Amino acid sequence: MIATVLGLAAGPVPLPGHAAPAPTPTPGATQTSAGAASPGPTSAASADPVAARGADLYLRSCASCHGPAGQGSQRGPALVGVGPASVDFQLSTGRMPIEKEAAQPPHRRPAFSAEEIRAIVVHVGSFGGGGPEIPSVAPGDLRDGRELYLATCAACHSATGIGATLTNGFVAPSLDRSSPIQVAEAVRVGPGLMPAFPESVLSQEQLNALASYVQELRGDKLDEGGAPLGRLGPTTEGLVAWGIGLVLLVLVARWLSSRAGE
Ligand code: HEC
Ligand code: HEC
Repeated sequence: MIATVLGLAAGPVPLPGHAAPAPTPTPGATQTSAGAASPGPTSAASADPVAARGADLYLRSCASCHGPAGQGSQRGPALVGVGPASVDFQLSTGRMPIEKEAAQPPHRRPAFSAEEIRAIVVHVGSFGGGGPEIPSVAPGDLRDGRELYLATCAACHSATGIGATLTNGFVAPSLDRSSPIQVAEAVRVGPGLMPAFPESVLSQEQLNALASYVQELRGDKLDEGGAPLGRLGPTTEGLVAWGIGLVLLVLVARWLSSRAGE
């Protein structure tokens, strides 16, 4: 399993696309009010304020690269059928929009509010159905999560989730900033070089376990070192304890020698 996965990562990297996850037929994929009779995706937009907002944001921030109807261009891949999870992942992690093409857009602060993101997701959905829906996650079993994480994710993201460099300067990013939904989306979508894990490979229960375990990993890094030492964690605490101990020893030695000198 990991061998295949690493093989994927090592292969040549076509910029715009990755193997689209097998689109499980998703009944409610296009949820705009576009009725059967309406001729195109934009006609419904004016009727529904959310759709209109989404269409407007899309035309201003995305169409220059992905095409006005998501058909793609030389600057960006087609978005027809990528699915809500992919769009939500790209926007909520701040990867999109980018100003100019980049091999691997980084996790940033999102450019849009949650509401705007929802509107854009709906609009991109109107280009055509298919692709994974935004997954839901519930608290899962941490022990299972740890096992699954070590078996399926750690090879790229490292056992502690700090990430690692893959081939050709691509990185598997740190999972420090990933919300449970973003973890679930990444798992189902397989962004960039990451393979997708559809429900036939990782069940909903396993997904819950994984997402919970990643939060646990994040929590560990945030909590264990105490607030001011932050993410440096227990090692730093140990160092500081050691440092304080050393100072105490020196003081005691001085006090002793000053008494000896009396
Ligand atoms: C400057 C050009 C550019 C702009 C502007 C841009 N994108 Fe992209 N987008 C790209 C490129 C290039 C990729 C492929 C990145 C990669 O390979 O990791 C991409 C990838 C994506 C993907 C993943 C597609 C897939 O196959 O999984 C989504 C979804 C997406 N963009 C949505 C958007 C949305 C929504 C906007 C507007 C808010 C936007 N993008 C703005 C260039 C752009
Ligand atoms: C083959 C290596 C590989 C494996 C295995 C892998 N990932 Fe990834 N992962 C990546 C890469 C590469 C990216 C960055 C994608 C991009 O460029 O947008 C990524 C991105 C992510 C992100 C987004 C983080 C961010 O910066 O917003 C999450 C969350 C994530 N992976 C979780 C997982 C989980 C959970 C597993 C195990 C089920 C896993 N990954 C397995 C390579 C991998």
